[in-house]
Amino acid sequence: MTDLASADFFSDYALSQDPHPYWDHLREQNPVYREPHYGVVAVTGYQEVLAAFKDHDSFSAVNAIGGPFPPLPFTPEGDDITEQIEAHRHLFPIHEHLVVMDPPAHERARSLLNKLLTPRRLKENEDYMWQLVDSQIDQVIGKGRCEFLSEYAKPFATSAIIDLLGVPEEDRPEFLAALGAEQPDGARVGALDGEPVGLDPLQYLDDKFAGYLAERRREPRGDVLSGMATAVYPDGSTPELIEVVKPATFLFAAGQETVTKLLSAAVKTLAEQPEYQRILRAHPDRIPTFIEESLRMNAPTKVDFRLVRKTTTLGGVHLKAGTIVMLCLGAANRDPRKFEDPHEFRPERKNVREHIAFGRGIHTCAGAPLARVEGQITVRRWLDRTDEIHLDESVHGPAGQHHFAYDPTFLLRGLSQLNIEFTAAT
Ligand code: HEM
Repeated sequence: MTDLASADFFSDYALSQDPHPYWDHLREQNPVYREPHYGVVAVTGYQEVLAAFKDHDSFSAVNAIGGPFPPLPFTPEGDDITEQIEAHRHLFPIHEHLVVMDPPAHERARSLLNKLLTPRRLKENEDYMWQLVDSQIDQVIGKGRCEFLSEYAKPFATSAIIDLLGVPEEDRPEFLAALGAEQPDGARVGALDGEPVGLDPLQYLDDKFAGYLAERRREPRGDVLSGMATAVYPDGSTPELIEVVKPATFLFAAGQETVTKLLSAAVKTLAEQPEYQRILRAHPDRIPTFIEESLRMNAPTKVDFRLVRKTTTLGGVHLKAGTIVMLCLGAANRDPRKFEDPHEFRPERKNVREHIAFGRGIHTCAGAPLARVEGQITVRRWLDRTDEIHLDESVHGPAGQHHFAYDPTFLLRGLSQLNIEFTAAT
């Protein structure tokens, strides 16, 4: 039994397997509460997380991903550390990606991404996903069982982004291999000429996209990549090539693992609570709220960090400039002041769409529409193509004693493995 008062959120294995008792404990102390190990202020209340997300003037996103790791590269001084942040920004992890940028740089980077994520592009991508889902299910349906993450969710999530970005058809197998998302039993893809793959997937992506975009700047061809290559900033100026490459490649970092975690959480619920298989087969129009409740209950991004840029208060708590704040999305989504019986899975709850799994404010998830559609299409087609789905008890244990392993990280929440068995639809 973990002693919640002394538990370390960042390294305690038991907390990575189930953070909720710890978050509830913190919220009972105060929804804005300093944990003892790193002096990080954990925010577990819904209203308080929302307020911090919306106040990008007091809260910088510069440490959004790493939080207290590595430690700040400077000693904060005074009640406004804007200048110190800017002087050291290049020392923060992934400083070149938009998720850690502050205005005005953030606005410029996001404007390039918005040019890609148009309603029309998202619709074309959705059309592609309807084919993708069937071809993915075709590969496992005959076996009557699969390990859902590696054999379905990860290749599906990766292929969806590859398509979104308009990667040429002939290069797609190479991308899947480089990103570690080929089907486990699929033939090793030979496109990389025997080179070891996946050593540095982000570098691989940067190189590939820099190549595509440079080529299309020279010779636009009317495809998605040409649209990105020729995108300009709102003031009409042309971005450096690397400024277009980074938002594109970041989509893989942002949308692969998170979506894999959402899909596996939703299918776990279907397998454990078969009444939802019956309800959703009979009423597919209820699938969207089923996905929203899956997001609320299993927020794939557990926590997000901010650095107090200007001394402020949050939920009545004084926060000095330089304080590291941990916005616990998974906790906010189960705040009993916001969601009645917060630990119950209830897709029919009235405020089901008000969860905060995609963040809020200027950094709100750019891929949320895509992630939602991926969840909805996955549930819809798995239910269409099967008569029933259940857990593989040889892996997860017998009914009443099911056990699951979650990825032992402090940032993301998701199953490490989900083994299911199913009967193909007659
Ligand atoms: C269920 C799946 C997903 C979840 C739970 C999720 C969650 C989040 C959260 C919480 C943020 C805000 C981070 C912050 O404020 O510090 C975010 C940002 C972002 N997400 Fe997602 N995401 C998901 C899927 C995707 C997908 C599929 C894509 C794109 C293909 C994507 C692209 C982005 C981008 C580009 C940002 C940065 C936006 C900005 O800084 O302006 N995400 N996501």
